[in-house]
Amino acid sequence: MCGVSQNRSSAVMQHRAEPTDSLDDFPTPPWATRALLAFLKQMNQPLDVQHAWEPACNRGQMARVLGEEFAEVWATDVHDYGYEGMAGRVDFLMPDLEPPVGIDWIITNPPFRLGPQFILRALELAEVGVAVLVRTSFDEGAARYHELFRDRPETWALPFVERVVMWQGGHDRASLCATWALWCWPRWRRFRSAVHW
Ligand SMILES: C[S@@+](CC[C@H](N)C(=O)[O-])C[C@H]1O[C@@H](n2cnc3c(N)ncnc32)[C@H](O)[C@@H]1O
Repeated sequence: MCGVSQNRSSAVMQHRAEPTDSLDDFPTPPWATRALLAFLKQMNQPLDVQHAWEPACNRGQMARVLGEEFAEVWATDVHDYGYEGMAGRVDFLMPDLEPPVGIDWIITNPPFRLGPQFILRALELAEVGVAVLVRTSFDEGAARYHELFRDRPETWALPFVERVVMWQGGHDRASLCATWALWCWPRWRRFRSAVHW
């Protein structure tokens, strides 16, 4: 994505080695979220009247930036990291989750090992679209294709030109080849129509 500057750190850790029960505490640098907002505005999304949900808000690094453009941002996380704007502790994957009404966009950087589950849940709940920041390799492989992309192709995949550097809980850093994966309903509905009718 162009037109947005970032910290040009020489970080080299390419592969995260998180324990399997980790909450994946990797806040997103603000410039990476601003790049998505610039794209959505370019696509004429009326963000100033739309409501967004950041369901893995962590320390609020993404939610705060979403608040620069969206009319309202509902920020939740399964763990409380002290973000003052957090609406509450919510396990986004709870089967009986009662979501807020009128959520237009769900936008997040999901925990790495739960990416597909987060996306499937978000696709059920958002009224306009879903955007998730994932590793560029997220799209690859037969299993991923069958569990997610075959029936729900992304509307856009927006790879970053620069690597996205994230700091785990403020200490270890990861430098990722990352992509915004984005689903937006008009195209999704057309695709579903084509399959079923
Ligand atoms: C990569 S961090 C998200 C960073 C944040 N989205 C940002 O961009 O700054 C992943 C977050 O997912 C949260 N998380 C893990 N499992 C979750 C669940 N089941 N429901 C909600 N949040 C969860 C973790 O607590 C962690 O804050």
